[in-house]
Amino acid sequence: MIALALTALLVGLAAYPVVRRLTRRLERLQTSVEALGAGQLSTRVPVEGSDEVARLAQSFNQSAERVEALVTAQKSLLANASHELRSPLARVRMAIELAGDGSSPEIREELKKNIAELDQLIDEILLASRLDAVSDVALHMESIDFAALAAEECARVGAELSAEPAQMEGDARLLRRMIRNLLENAKRHGEDSPIEVALRCLGKEIQLEVCDGGRGVPLEERERIFEPFYRIPGTRERDGSVGLGLSLVRQIARRHGGDAHCFGREGKGACFRVRLKSPFA
Ligand SMILES: Nc1ncnc2c1ncn2[C@@H]1O[C@H](COP(=O)(O)OP(=O)(O)OP(=O)(O)O)[C@@H](O)[C@H]1O
Ligand SMILES: [Mg+2]
Repeated sequence: MIALALTALLVGLAAYPVVRRLTRRLERLQTSVEALGAGQLSTRVPVEGSDEVARLAQSFNQSAERVEALVTAQKSLLANASHELRSPLARVRMAIELAGDGSSPEIREELKKNIAELDQLIDEILLASRLDAVSDVALHMESIDFAALAAEECARVGAELSAEPAQMEGDARLLRRMIRNLLENAKRHGEDSPIEVALRCLGKEIQLEVCDGGRGVPLEERERIFEPFYRIPGTRERDGSVGLGLSLVRQIARRHGGDAHCFGREGKGACFRVRLKSPFA
């Protein structure tokens, strides 16, 4: 019995390093699969040896390569298409101006309004696709007074602001866009209720909350509304409402080390919270 137990122990001890090495390689593979799933498309695993695990790693690398190429191609197609749409649009605008009094003022006004909307849509798609391409556009980082930025934007729409002083590193143009999108939503979808904005500093994190007293966002829609082009069914298609505003808000927050969420209570108004995190805040 003792001899048997000793043999089992010896076999176990001898096999341990081999098994440990194998599980480590599998763990590395699992981490990489998870990273790829989380959107880090440049993830690859080292291929060691020539066994089944190595072949699995090789297949993973090939698939990741293909996925990355496809996504990159799609993003650049979107960015280029939006960019290319700009020039004919500018030409149409110019032609309308030159056409002078040939057509009725109402028709000219209507055309101008539609062109302005198209222009804004292209601008948003362009920004969204650029922000999405992780390695693309660098942010124009500068030291900014975030509280002053929020105060300016709140004053534009008559929102009530309670703010703590908040100095941070960030891209002022993008952060202004982020606040503006949230305020415009509160105005557009908040049924003319008062808009309340709160700005807090929690250590190295800045939190911005924009709340309205409108119809709120149902629980099951609170994540979906951040998807590009998604609008809650029943949302009236008002001028220029395309469903890109919140996806931009989230992308801008993420590019500043934070995130954006909706936690509005149904029927009692919607609340959006944006966190901007260290090392940027
Ligand atoms: N404050 C709010 N109250 C209720 N619903 C909201 C609110 N903000 C957003 N939503 C819902 O979320 C959807 C997506 O918002 P998002 O800002 O992305 O698009 P949009 O406002 O429709 O268009 P735009 O691209 O011009 O911003 C809206 O269509 C609306 O249904
Ligand atoms: Mg919006």
